[in-house]
Amino acid sequence: MVPLTRAPGRESDRLRFVEVPRGHPGATLAEAVRTGLGSSPKTLPSLFFYDDEGSALFDLITQLPEYTPTRCELEILQASANEIVRSVHGPCEIVEFGSGSGVKTRTLIEAALGRQGSLQYVPIDVSGDYLRASAAALLADYPELEVTALAAEYRDGLAALPPTDRPRLVTFMGSNLGNMEFCEAAQFLGDVRAAMGPHDRLLLGVDLVKDTDTVWAAYNDRAGVTERFNKNVLARVNRELGADFDLEAFGHWAPYVPGKDRIEMHLVARREAVVRVEALGETYRFEAGESVRTEISQKYTLESLQATCLVGGFGIERVWHDRQGWFAVALCRPVA
Ligand code: AVJ
Repeated sequence: MVPLTRAPGRESDRLRFVEVPRGHPGATLAEAVRTGLGSSPKTLPSLFFYDDEGSALFDLITQLPEYTPTRCELEILQASANEIVRSVHGPCEIVEFGSGSGVKTRTLIEAALGRQGSLQYVPIDVSGDYLRASAAALLADYPELEVTALAAEYRDGLAALPPTDRPRLVTFMGSNLGNMEFCEAAQFLGDVRAAMGPHDRLLLGVDLVKDTDTVWAAYNDRAGVTERFNKNVLARVNRELGADFDLEAFGHWAPYVPGKDRIEMHLVARREAVVRVEALGETYRFEAGESVRTEISQKYTLESLQATCLVGGFGIERVWHDRQGWFAVALCRPVA
């Protein structure tokens, strides 16, 4: 008799690791620096925080007493992972954008394994070494798990999803959507929608509008980890592009912008500065007080989330909250 479930294989047999090549222009650090520091006001895309150093700093942020989103989301997942997984029709596969360390994902993986015995998990992350390490840890802990890890930016990962005959639970957690302007967010969701079938579901985790002091404190922690995280992008430009940013000459500034319900992170020149970026053969001038915007972190209301989803082609089927009502996890269904 042929056994219905395969015997669990060795960890290395259960991992496929794919480095997906960049599929669109403007994606390299060099190109982003050329565009972002060459424009006014100056900006740098938040994507470039996440080299191995930056991903490790972000992990420290998630453990800060002031940083609420991760704890709130974990609370929701711990309470509702079974329900979430069961709302997908039949045995599923889990795809995760921006998987990071994978701590929160374990709740969903365990729920899916409990329900269906085996699971294919497809994490997508730009931080390759980090992705490899978290995949290895998951495979060691769950013998029935198979991992196809895509080292890629979101859109490239989306285009490289392995084929499956199971419905997909596509997750975009951690309020990563908040790093995009509303129109970009809706457009990204539209791209995800286009890759999804009618039985697939999208799980979105977003940080909610709440009292301003609580939000502000999460990006202005006393220990200064967020400041190090913010400055890591300059350190990275120094390391990778031979630039001579003096990290002491820039300050961390993360105001809450009430009219837009969002935090913005900036690096502000404390004094006039001239920075050479060797790999680009360019020199950039900063006036005293001039800032580089490095991130937006949009806070959502149920209304703004619903509207963004709708423009992206999704309807919200169900929403889960933490006890404080600070974070929302929404299950979204593609609309025709
Ligand atoms: C991982 C993008 C959700 O915006 O809160 C944490 C990144 N930036 N502290 C966020 C971040 C500063 C984080 N996201």
